[in-house]
Amino acid sequence: MAQSRGENMTRAQAVEQMQMQVPAWRHRHILDLDDISRAEIEIVIQTTDAMMEVLSREVRRVPTLRGKTVVTAFYEASTRTKASFEMAAKNLSADVVSFASAGSSVEKGESLVDTLRTLQALGADAIIIRHKESGAPYVAARHVKASVINAGDGWHAHPSQALLDLYTLRRRFGSVEGLRVVILGDILHSRVARSNIWGLTTMGASVVLCGPPTLLPQVSRREAPAPGDQLPPVEVQTDIERALDSADVVMPLRLQRERQQSGLLPSIREYVQLYQLNEQRLGLARKEAIVLHPGPVNEGVEIAPGVAYGDRSAIDEQVSVGVAVRMALLFLVMGGRR
Ligand code: CP
Repeated sequence: MAQSRGENMTRAQAVEQMQMQVPAWRHRHILDLDDISRAEIEIVIQTTDAMMEVLSREVRRVPTLRGKTVVTAFYEASTRTKASFEMAAKNLSADVVSFASAGSSVEKGESLVDTLRTLQALGADAIIIRHKESGAPYVAARHVKASVINAGDGWHAHPSQALLDLYTLRRRFGSVEGLRVVILGDILHSRVARSNIWGLTTMGASVVLCGPPTLLPQVSRREAPAPGDQLPPVEVQTDIERALDSADVVMPLRLQRERQQSGLLPSIREYVQLYQLNEQRLGLARKEAIVLHPGPVNEGVEIAPGVAYGDRSAIDEQVSVGVAVRMALLFLVMGGRR
């Protein structure tokens, strides 16, 4: 639809106002949440509020990143993260280049660094990278001048997912402070869990990890992190009933069937019996409790379909707000820095 001059003026002014309101942002890259402070997470949340306002308009596009190029470099499958980063970049008027390792020169032996330097030479201002190897985005950040955003690396981190989870909780509860958040299932192999542990504890939530002992990471149970700790202190439970008691939020994680082959679980059937989030177990949580899931969902395995699609599920909301959160991240690393 053609826009009137008045509408253009208003949107330009809104972007200018957004830029004026964002305090100094010191991060050129978003690699994990372990080095993002509470005040900085608040900046992401406030910036996301502004992006939600943009998305509520008839024309959901602002010229903030016009002339910039965002490359999505995905070495692993993705539906939500890739699509929402690309939508976010387009909503900010950036040019978007979608790189997939399948069908590229990676299949001819091109190294990660060679690929990234090539994408930069082609004009990338930001590279959104997903890789099966933990640490790949850190390698990228060392070798390119572009901003790097980690879209999931191995078992290590998935910061934009954790930020959209925080934003969903902030919308639902007003504040994350003091919420009892139960992360349930295969936590050992979950980059979502790791970034969420950092983000949730930074924002004052009480985090409970619950799953079979073979799928739980080593965590400290001290009051405060000690030097060398890989994660902040959290409560750990193997008894699901005890974990869910008085929970405000339950976040079952995808049970990765491939883990079966490594002998960490006797059988999926046993896992379902002991750890599936079903209606009866959800009844142990507070009556206002909500269910989050990063997706993709294994219906009938880690979560019963009635819970995944029930009225306490915020799974679709997580996906929807993910676009605004990723617009905020692109804006902050590319446009909001002073
Ligand atoms: N949550 C998440 O990372 O989903 P995708 O793998 O579909 O991107």
